[in-house]
Amino acid sequence: MKQTPETAFSHRHLLGIEGLSPIDITTILDLAGGYVDQSRRVHKTSDLLNGLTVINLFFENSTRTRTSFEAAAKRLGADVINMTVAASSIKKGETLIDTAMTLNAMHPDVLVVRHGNSGAVRLLSEKVDGAVINAGDGRHEHPTQALLDALTIRRRLGKIGGLTVAICGDVAHSRVARSNIQLLQTMGARVRLIAPPTLLPAKAERFGVEVFTDMREGLQDVDIVMMLRLQLERMQGAFVPSVREYFRFFGLDREKLSYAKPDALVMHPGPMNRGVEIDSELADDIDRSLIREQVEMGVAIRMACLDLLTRPLRETGAP
Ligand code: CP
Repeated sequence: MKQTPETAFSHRHLLGIEGLSPIDITTILDLAGGYVDQSRRVHKTSDLLNGLTVINLFFENSTRTRTSFEAAAKRLGADVINMTVAASSIKKGETLIDTAMTLNAMHPDVLVVRHGNSGAVRLLSEKVDGAVINAGDGRHEHPTQALLDALTIRRRLGKIGGLTVAICGDVAHSRVARSNIQLLQTMGARVRLIAPPTLLPAKAERFGVEVFTDMREGLQDVDIVMMLRLQLERMQGAFVPSVREYFRFFGLDREKLSYAKPDALVMHPGPMNRGVEIDSELADDIDRSLIREQVEMGVAIRMACLDLLTRPLRETGAP
């Protein structure tokens, strides 16, 4: 078969952006474009994944990622099982691996997994027969978030390479930041990190980024301002003096945004804390904020990932 970008994707799992080439990323983004159109139709469902089973296994809370994986799988015709961890035998002490082996015995074709520990999703992927998609593991990676962010940027600005993107806020605890840094750099963008010193990872420059602790300096002439949620659930102790002070120095409002390019766009992966990370009115400004578009692109990206990862199974009948 001729190797077009669409047939070149050869990964068994999607565990992170690390290891994806520019062609892999472009393949996913190109394919997702068609799924945006499918999702905008009145009748959204196809039978591409008919007969396949997708299990959503979320050990941490989620609104966007879990729902959009469910919508994506159903729009492609798959059977979807949502496992509620709070009502599962994990609460009786069953281990992650025993849970994985139990679900594996039911022959799922894809497992979508979110877990609070970095590396847990990779560990699980080594124990099961189906494809595994990382829906966020600890502080490590959230690859489909970075892919949907990339699709949002590419659709609005026509490119990713050559742009300057500022990732601002709680970088230290953010898997979204890690996946985005890798994806944006792989696709030729320049990345800046802007955060108080307490919310920067140790030796942040090792990521090949520019690092700032002042929003006005860091936002100078950027194309995209990507805000991050303050991950209070991952903080032990006080990383910021108060949320009011945090907003004053690191929350995005129109005055700080004026240091970026005049038409700079604003993103946030959600869930957002209005008035903490971002001014509420700016978050809702459809001329500057891409936040709602990010959610829409999430379904299309997840459809593309499910499509690509199940191709070997659909084409040959074997994983
Ligand atoms: N952005 C994101 O992962 O949101 P959820 O936690 O709601 O899935």
